Amino acid sequence: MKAAVINKFGGPEVFDYTDVDTPAPRAGELLVKVAACGINRYDLYTRMGAVFTDMALPHVLGADVAGSVAAIGADVEGWREGDAAIVAPGYPIDPSDWDILPENRAPSFEVTGTHTWGGNAEYIRMPARFVLHDDTGLPAPEVAAMPLVLMTAVHAVETLGEVRVGSRVLVQAGASGSGNACVQMAAALGARVAATVGSKEKMETAKAAGAELVINYNENSFAEAVLEWTEGTGVDAVIDNVGGSVFEDNLKALRVGGIFVNFGLVGGMTSTINFRDLFFKQHQLRGSFMGSMAGLRRGLELLREGKIKAVVDRTYPLSETSEAHRYIESRAVKGKVVLIP
Ligand SMILES: NC(=O)c1ccc[n+]([C@@H]2O[C@H](COP(=O)([O-])OP(=O)(O)OC[C@H]3O[C@@H](n4cnc5c(N)ncnc54)[C@H](OP(=O)(O)O)[C@@H]3O)[C@@H](O)[C@H]2O)c1
Repeated sequence: MKAAVINKFGGPEVFDYTDVDTPAPRAGELLVKVAACGINRYDLYTRMGAVFTDMALPHVLGADVAGSVAAIGADVEGWREGDAAIVAPGYPIDPSDWDILPENRAPSFEVTGTHTWGGNAEYIRMPARFVLHDDTGLPAPEVAAMPLVLMTAVHAVETLGEVRVGSRVLVQAGASGSGNACVQMAAALGARVAATVGSKEKMETAKAAGAELVINYNENSFAEAVLEWTEGTGVDAVIDNVGGSVFEDNLKALRVGGIFVNFGLVGGMTSTINFRDLFFKQHQLRGSFMGSMAGLRRGLELLREGKIKAVVDRTYPLSETSEAHRYIESRAVKGKVVLIP
């Protein structure tokens, strides 16, 4: 099969579009023919060697796969060849962890395509229990854009952020792949949403996702704008994928007793915290990593119902994976970029 292989860690140029052996499904596994594979910023970090460097090379990245079942391993029930399938974007890779729920609390839980080969290829082999039937009825690129960000949004916004009808929420990077899904998730839950973006061009993307207030942080202080929007109170929850560069202002925008959820670090890994403010304002700080299979199913149901929509900025042929990574690095992307084998 063709695959976008990395033989070393580095820049977008490290991808080699080449022939590799097609995997055969073992007992309990499915072989899925990849129709489309979404790219997440995590793939860029992994390609750079910024997350793990202990995976065997050559390696194939890619967590978000929509496709169809091409072959079925022994002891697998409920699947027929040709069935439309969605691969879980994260799962515990050690079968001895499979009884641990929610799945993201398992020690071996990781993003699909980290220590196992992912979906930047014509086929991916997966444990059948981490493959879902695709009943969305949507085109493959739209489906492949969503599993990771849906799993994340359900966990970060609904489970940890405790966002409910009438909550007021600030979502960072509202035009990013994951931030956009979080804006849509909060709006689908009936919350009122404020979102940040870094350019005029991205404002419409955040607005279309359901944000009532969109702040271009390069022109205005988002903390001040959010305090004004909430009559000085602050929001009930901040959903943050930016991290260090906005941490202190995020807490300024959060009400007394509010919940801060972080799940990303595009703006840096470290910051400082004022403990006096933390306990006086009774802020709850929560870290969010991916989510559960139940959360993924819930997110896909919202997608099927049209309550959350895939925002696909561009698709690229798999042979142009380097170009696709360069485009994401440019920060111009609105929503998601998807590879087509
Ligand atoms: N923990 C989890 O479960 C989980 C799940 C999904 C994503 N994440 C994390 O969330 C973050 C975003 O991922 P993504 O896939 O949504 O990314 P993405 O689609 O590539 O969007 C990233 C956006 O972040 C904004 N940004 C702010 N400061 C930035 C900086 N210093 N450098 C680059 N971009 C900056 C930019 O938007 P503006 O131009 O509008 O500022 C950029 O477009 C990453 O850290 C990723 O690892 C974590």
